[in-house]
Amino acid sequence: MPIPNPTALDFLLTRRSRPAKTLTAPVPDDDALRLILTAAARTPDHGKLEPWRFIVLRKPALERLAGLVPARGAALGLDDEKTAKAVRQFADADLAVAVISAPKPSDKIPQIEQVYSAGAVCLALLNAALAAGWGANWLSGWPSHDRDFVARGLGLDAHESVAGFLHLGTETAAPPERPRPDIDAITTWIDA
Ligand SMILES: Cc1cc2nc3c(=O)[nH]c(=O)nc-3n(C[C@H](O)[C@H](O)[C@H](O)COP(=O)(O)O)c2cc1C
Repeated sequence: MPIPNPTALDFLLTRRSRPAKTLTAPVPDDDALRLILTAAARTPDHGKLEPWRFIVLRKPALERLAGLVPARGAALGLDDEKTAKAVRQFADADLAVAVISAPKPSDKIPQIEQVYSAGAVCLALLNAALAAGWGANWLSGWPSHDRDFVARGLGLDAHESVAGFLHLGTETAAPPERPRPDIDAITTWIDA
């Protein structure tokens, strides 16, 4: 017979992100963050390739990234609102972790499986932070997909990409619930 863990199940059935713009200090200290990263790294990874890594972005690093956005937004011809939103994402944050998808050369494990694993790390990090009592939010935004920005701002190699910026902090407002998927509409049960 299965041995249920009702506390864990209840967490998974009720968990929800806290919008980054509602997060504030205090943020997890280094020990608390290390625990969250340890839980996040405990993620399925076909072939044990560890095709991901973390970049912890403290306040000065987030301010530096915010400072890189306007010139890059202008070079890409983005409108002011898009650029300003990206500036705010970094400038208003107190702590974020960039989860970096870093696929390894492999004849056996397809690259896409390695990228899926990086996405799974993002969710594991989000859930670990929430379970530890912090507010957390998985964000991307155009800078995360811009080669020039991630190379210059985060030092990413050409084969690497940002799977997500995980913003962490203290929640200031309870988030509204959002509609959840209709399981019957997205599930096919096949018996034969
Ligand atoms: C890969 C990925 C990127 C996202 N990027 C953004 C973003 O840039 N801005 C945003 O407002 N939400 C973004 N979201 C959605 C937020 O994470 C949102 O808070 C989340 O869908 C709420 O889910 P939950 O309530 O189940 O935790 C992104 C989600 C994913 C999976």
